Amino acid sequence: MRTVKIGVFGIYRGGTFYDTIRYNNGEIVAVCDKDEARLAEAREKLGDDLATYTNFEDFINHEGLEAVFLSNYFCEHAPYAVKALEKGIHVLSECASNSTMAEGVALVRACEKSGAFYMISENYPFMKFNHEINRIVEGGTLGKIMYAEGEYNHPHDPRDRRYNASLRPFSQHWRVRLPRSYYVTHALAPLMYFTGATPKKVVAMPCYAPFDQKDKQNYCQIADRAAIMMVLNDDDSVFRVTGCAAFAGHENSYRLCGTKGQVENLRESNHILLRYNEWDAPEGVSGYNCYLPEWNDPDAEAIDKIGGHYGGDFLVMREFLNCVRENRKPKMDVYFATAMASVGILAHRSILNGNVPYDIPDFRKKEDRVKYENDHLSPFWGSDGSEPTLPSCSRPEGEPLPEKLLEYDEYAKEMLK
Ligand SMILES: NC(=O)c1ccc[n+]([C@@H]2O[C@H](COP(=O)([O-])OP(=O)(O)OC[C@H]3O[C@@H](n4cnc5c(N)ncnc54)[C@H](O)[C@@H]3O)[C@@H](O)[C@H]2O)c1
Repeated sequence: MRTVKIGVFGIYRGGTFYDTIRYNNGEIVAVCDKDEARLAEAREKLGDDLATYTNFEDFINHEGLEAVFLSNYFCEHAPYAVKALEKGIHVLSECASNSTMAEGVALVRACEKSGAFYMISENYPFMKFNHEINRIVEGGTLGKIMYAEGEYNHPHDPRDRRYNASLRPFSQHWRVRLPRSYYVTHALAPLMYFTGATPKKVVAMPCYAPFDQKDKQNYCQIADRAAIMMVLNDDDSVFRVTGCAAFAGHENSYRLCGTKGQVENLRESNHILLRYNEWDAPEGVSGYNCYLPEWNDPDAEAIDKIGGHYGGDFLVMREFLNCVRENRKPKMDVYFATAMASVGILAHRSILNGNVPYDIPDFRKKEDRVKYENDHLSPFWGSDGSEPTLPSCSRPEGEPLPEKLLEYDEYAKEMLK
């Protein structure tokens, strides 16, 4: 198996992939982060030969770089992906490809021009229980999938103040202004990946429940705790997905319902529940099956040991490196990625505009690109300091208040000392 020379951009989350990359014959030749302490940690872990950069332009020009893993700020992936693709460097990008519609168009165009490929780093389809759900759906015994649910529900423990501050280290950080629907990929990607369905229309509603404003760490929390999205797909199936939610009871859960049977993982458990109409169950299979799945993978031990997110981190990186090696296009390509991002972005507009439905563009089509190529609306602060051009919450009073955010900055600095 040949070695792939890869660089990592953004080494907070990116820095958790070193073992996985090396296990899968990736050679980390360079890393880039503006945080010098994180660069020092990387040198300690990966050795003094590691090239470290604080500037993306220098990093991307590192000699021999074949591929990059983009794990920088959520709302800034697309421009860096475009730069890498323009240089013929393969891109694995963390889990939202673009944060504006115009960026989605630019990314697709850059990818089509490039000799390199683009893959979204969506790890949730590869989690242990999802690996099994995928196997079952692919087996075809459920019949035609007509309805599915995806929930990514990740409330944070308010007692873990330092960790919470590390997630939102300053008030202009993307997590402070993240509309719940924008982080849709963990809920939606598994359903698209298993079924091959592509979203065509979205309508969304918020779950509004303000955080206690007596606690300073909540000054940076928007009041929508979930966005519930209904998605109609090109194969007439319907998905209900959450975006990133924060209601009580942490879970990542998925349920797919077909004409003959349905499968789900039991909430906050690795167990699979597989049920059939009695008259449609495959020969010798019960109508009711509840079990713990196995990997059935030669790397099973390593997946459990070093692959975070129930093995998803290991498998998404292995797939990317294998695509580079085998000169193979990934399933979660630029069209898959931008369709998901469009669902998240347009679901938020549905929420802001009285829950009206939005058509999801197909960026393979010229007319859909033209419609959105100048749509730069964004709920996030720009990297150049430009102000957000969209609200981040369904109601104006649920937005973080500017005067409180100044206080939040002081608080976060104190916490992270
Ligand atoms: N798939 C998953 O399970 C999962 C889990 C956590 C985070 N993420 C994703 O990973 C990405 C990063 O999130 P995070 O948790 O690491 O937090 P983060 O966004 O705060 O960290 C980003 C890192 O990139 C660096 N960085 C950002 N812009 C830079 C620039 N222009 N030049 C140099 N360095 C720069 C920062 O210093 C920081 O170390 C996000 O897109 C997030 O959605 C995914």
